[in-house]
Amino acid sequence: MGRFLLMIPGPSLVDPETMLDMAKPTLSHVSAEFDSIHREALDMLRKVFGTSGNVVVIPGSGTAAIELAVRTAVKPGERVAVLKTGYFADYLVDAARRVGAEVTVVEAPIGRGFTESDVEKVLDQGNFSTVLLQHVETSVAVANPVDRIARKAKEFGAKVIVDGIASIGGMEMNMDSWGVDVCLTGSQKALAVPPGLAIVAYRDGFTPLTDNETLYFNITKLLKEMESTRNYYITPAVNLIYALNSSLKRILAEGLQQRYRRHEALAKAVQRGLEALGLRLVAEEGFRANTVTATYIPEGIEWSKLYSEMHSRGVEIAGGLGALRGKIFRIGHMGEVSANDVIATLAALERVLAKLGYRVEFGASVRAAQQVLDAYGV
Ligand SMILES: Cc1ncc(COP(=O)(O)O)c(C=O)c1O
Repeated sequence: MGRFLLMIPGPSLVDPETMLDMAKPTLSHVSAEFDSIHREALDMLRKVFGTSGNVVVIPGSGTAAIELAVRTAVKPGERVAVLKTGYFADYLVDAARRVGAEVTVVEAPIGRGFTESDVEKVLDQGNFSTVLLQHVETSVAVANPVDRIARKAKEFGAKVIVDGIASIGGMEMNMDSWGVDVCLTGSQKALAVPPGLAIVAYRDGFTPLTDNETLYFNITKLLKEMESTRNYYITPAVNLIYALNSSLKRILAEGLQQRYRRHEALAKAVQRGLEALGLRLVAEEGFRANTVTATYIPEGIEWSKLYSEMHSRGVEIAGGLGALRGKIFRIGHMGEVSANDVIATLAALERVLAKLGYRVEFGASVRAAQQVLDAYGV
């Protein structure tokens, strides 16, 4: 396969040490050795989610985490509001409808997230028991101010469910102090673990509902398994849990605050770099994610050519989803992505855009990015 840079918004780069840890011999899932690795990973996840409540890890992609979260927090007939910032909100809508909730979708214009006062208006009108939203809407690289939104929702006595698939491990989350009742993620993004783990965290004091249990999403049995893997219900993804444990140790060794600051620096570097080339970002200032950046493709350039030229230079970037397919491209800068990776990506992009006929001053984006990185000391 050769060397290449995985600059998509998940799956993201995985550190070689994590890959090596994953390659260790598969233990019995009910052995004391594995149980201790598993429980250590859950304890570290609590730190990342900012909760002393329960954390559940099951084999599955992020969508499995969405389904488990919604099934254990929303009752049939409940009136819920989904704050839609893009493509992935539809997953929350679908999950809530499937448990029989009465769903109202409130949509933000493309590139904007929700402010506290937007949420106040929604809750004033709707008598909603639950608010569901994405922390980072990956499709447009928009971040919502979850801390302020959750506090506002609490004033109305509403539960808050957050899809943190594209944020957890790269942007701050403090479930207990912000009042986020349920937050979920997948292993493959800012946690820098290969795809395959669905993770759901419950705020301290929040009791998951058992009304909508299914064979797989049986929270009663899953919580028992999280206490000890000897209470086997479904087979844990043993080697992926090694990888999770390994990566979480790296994350905590870096320090959560330092890690969030590094993500902010990389995001600002990419944003300034793209703007220096005259490109237009999708997300508005104030709503930009620190884990991914989305940009409009300049007039006259085809996404398929942009992709293949970047690919042939060893850099993998992502396209648009849904209605934005062919119109935007996205660069992921989460988890193990470094300042050098960002610079290399921008430099390759300059050459590609020039080759495709866009006027580029070589070095413009790299210079802008370097200035940001230097100011952050990254
Ligand atoms: C915010 C968000 N929600 C949901 C999903 C779906 O997750 P998965 O593809 O892991 O099932 C993604 C995937 O990129 C995402 O970014």
